[in-house]
Amino acid sequence: MPENESHERTTVSVIGLGQLGTRLAQAFLAAGYATTVWNRTAAKTDALVAQGAVRAATAEAALSASPLIVVCLPDYTTVRDLLEPMAESLRGQVLANLTSGTPEEAVQAAGWVAGHGGDYLDGAAMSGTRLVGRPEALFVFSGSQEAFALHRAVLAGLGNCVHLGADPALAPIYDTALFGLAWGALAGFYHAVALVGAAGVDPGSFAAVATEHMPFVASLMADHARQVKDGRFPDDDGTVEVHRAAMEHLVRTSRTQGIGTDVPELFKALLERAMAEGHGLSGIASVIETITKGGRNA
Ligand SMILES: NC(=O)c1ccc[n+]([C@@H]2O[C@H](COP(=O)([O-])OP(=O)(O)OC[C@H]3O[C@@H](n4cnc5c(N)ncnc54)[C@H](OP(=O)(O)O)[C@@H]3O)[C@@H](O)[C@H]2O)c1
Repeated sequence: MPENESHERTTVSVIGLGQLGTRLAQAFLAAGYATTVWNRTAAKTDALVAQGAVRAATAEAALSASPLIVVCLPDYTTVRDLLEPMAESLRGQVLANLTSGTPEEAVQAAGWVAGHGGDYLDGAAMSGTRLVGRPEALFVFSGSQEAFALHRAVLAGLGNCVHLGADPALAPIYDTALFGLAWGALAGFYHAVALVGAAGVDPGSFAAVATEHMPFVASLMADHARQVKDGRFPDDDGTVEVHRAAMEHLVRTSRTQGIGTDVPELFKALLERAMAEGHGLSGIASVIETITKGGRNA
């Protein structure tokens, strides 16, 4: 048997060593956990074995090597196709699936694992690959509360792991919601960089000031979430009408500077719809009602 390829029991197995899976395995190793690794293209395990990982000869060997199995493959179909022939080895194990997918796929996967006597956690890496292993790397999990409690310390080797609830669908729902949130912020940032860039401002200089502004923006979330929950929208942070006028100003200024207006036009259109629905004098967070209703009208 080649060196570091064995059937010894380890704390965690990682199946799928692409960009993310490799970082996950590295983080477990760095946190001091005995880690088994398997990848379709075996050469990708070499660097991890050099760092102390145990190479499994087969995916089934990886599945049997540890009580916690972390799988990270392109999609759920690939996960299912790979694991189906060895599903009996899931009995008594916890499968933490960090593959991106839909809420429906997560629910199906949980049922499939439970049907084979295993416990299931659906997970999502919210901080790309760069931060994995650092305390600020956010990972969200949902599914078996017992499985999360049992392996919490090991998962913490990845970063800040948050359990959202027993419904496996929650992790992919948060995954897509948080991705949309990040994109909303980034779209605003890219537009802002273009706007100040037209005035000759260096992107880095702008980013430094913008970073100082973000704690205020972030601070609005908890307050506005309470307003949404209460269904009452005071105008402390400006009315829909006031924000629409500000967006109009942003669109005009962008046009004058000769840059695209796609981003502010999008927000302006949303605010105009909210006004048309009678929210003009309500606080800005009332746009949630227009967004929610939009889906029902679609
Ligand atoms: N990369 C990120 O920043 C990031 C962030 C959040 C979430 N994710 C999610 O994490 C998952 C993995 O992403 P990634 O970026 O790590 O992907 P990736 O770099 O493309 O790696 C894909 C992995 O899946 C393996 N694989 C593909 N088809 C397979 C098959 N039929 N049987 C067995 N193994 C197979 C590949 O093996 P080979 O090496 O043999 O090709 C490789 O290990 C995706 O769902 C992605 O959306 C990624």
